[in-house]
Amino acid sequence: MNFELHPLSLATACTYACDALVVLLSEEVTPKAGADALSTLLAHALKTKDLHTHSGKLLPLYAPEGIAAQRVVLLGCGAGSAADVRKALRQAMQSQAAFLKTATVKHMALVFANAPQTHAVAAAVQTVQEASYHYTATKTDGHGTGDAKGRALVRVTVGVDKALLTNSTVQAECAQAAALAEGIEFAREWANRPANHATPTLLAQAAKGLAKKGKHMDCTIHGPDEVAKLGMGAFMAVARGSKEPLRLIELHYKGADKKQAPIVLVGKGITFDTGGISIKPSAEMDEMKFDMGGAASVLGVFQALAILQPRVNVIGLIPACENMPDGAAVKPGDVVTGMSGQTIEILNTDAEGRLVLSDALTYAARFKPAAIVDVATLTGACIISLGAVRSGLFANDDALATQLQTAGDAALDACWRMPLDDEYAQGLKSNFADVANVAGRAGGSITAAKFLQRFIASDTPWAHLDIAGTAWKSGAAKGATGRPVGLLVQYLLGQQEKTPTPEKKTTKKTAKASSKS
Ligand code: BES
Ligand code: MN
Ligand code: ZN
Repeated sequence: MNFELHPLSLATACTYACDALVVLLSEEVTPKAGADALSTLLAHALKTKDLHTHSGKLLPLYAPEGIAAQRVVLLGCGAGSAADVRKALRQAMQSQAAFLKTATVKHMALVFANAPQTHAVAAAVQTVQEASYHYTATKTDGHGTGDAKGRALVRVTVGVDKALLTNSTVQAECAQAAALAEGIEFAREWANRPANHATPTLLAQAAKGLAKKGKHMDCTIHGPDEVAKLGMGAFMAVARGSKEPLRLIELHYKGADKKQAPIVLVGKGITFDTGGISIKPSAEMDEMKFDMGGAASVLGVFQALAILQPRVNVIGLIPACENMPDGAAVKPGDVVTGMSGQTIEILNTDAEGRLVLSDALTYAARFKPAAIVDVATLTGACIISLGAVRSGLFANDDALATQLQTAGDAALDACWRMPLDDEYAQGLKSNFADVANVAGRAGGSITAAKFLQRFIASDTPWAHLDIAGTAWKSGAAKGATGRPVGLLVQYLLGQQEKTPTPEKKTTKKTAKASSKS
């Protein structure tokens, strides 16, 4: 999808040819009847109270007189903040004005009825891309409707004041929003694909494809033999019951100096979670295809990194496998030895995410990371705690926790910090191994995090995001959300300011250094 900024006012929007025109109005709008066809319409509709400026209130119109666009949506955007604009556009495109998503709408234009806040422009760009995505990979309809992804909307013109056209903040924010939207979409697409279309092997291929296209990127895939050589007994125990061979995906993005310690992102990649021998009930078990949502979000981040190319070093690690019951499957009570050397009693084979993550976290240490952030659809208990609004955040480092929380708030992809007191680890004691993989029901998301923490050196800043409640929606709107790609990309972009680039170092006129280079 292509975005462009174009000078548009209400008056010029009247004659602007496009398939659909969305007019965004925030509270202070005071259109003058008689000024132009759109202003007249707005003034009239506001007066009759058929139109309101509350965020998400809208009035769809068809071929109104004096306006070139065939479809017009007048859309209230509340205070006109980025959050209000996002909410309004999302609502408009998803329900009341669903025609914005139909095959006939290939070119959409947006115009702000009153001066937009600079951030609202970027929010509009991101939301339109997000809201116009629809899944087609395993459907026979939906193809041939537009671009290769089956999306009809191929061109979006964001109308702004002439002054904003050359505003570098707006331009940068729009480019960032478009890249972020691509990353989110990539994550949604892979998470949405059914488990037989998103096997560990296929995920690895997707990662390879990303690295091939992206600058400063490479990708190594480790198969069962390499993983065995690394001693990843916990990861292997989970994969044992499946015919699909496991993959450990390792992605590197090098945007900064080699000497800069990387940030390692670890994504849970259970491509299907039956529970294993501790099998899950069959109701809604299909949703366990989303159990690689963490992995998908790491891939989505790399997609955004490929476009944005920030000055930061990032490594992505994805332990990918299925959790299946089988004659060869791991059994409750089995004790395995992970890469860290710790023995683990697998009391419940459905607590498999923490097992695959434990080995990936151990492996992460070899990169001497500045920080490790793991992302996982880890516990049903996290859904009980925080619902679908905020992801659970656990961290052994206050600075890292604050950075992630702030990034989440800014990206409208919020998380909430949870505790990690050592007392929570008591339930993980085992009579037969160094640690058990489950504690009781109480504080289930916290005890899971305490299990993970055992595989992190205490001097390495580490955070764990439990996205069980936020990675996908159930019910009629069933599908992946692409969270927390927004949070993670925002966090990584924030890290680069502290990362001096090689160029910066040489241009700095600090006595000796510059004369030497
Ligand atoms: N993938 C699930 C967590 C999950 C459950 C995510 C429901 C989203 C919706 C995870 O592997 C799991 O099964 N966790 C168990 C842990 C328990 C056995 C300690 C859970 O939450 O029930
Ligand atoms: Mn499970
Ligand atoms: Zn799982």
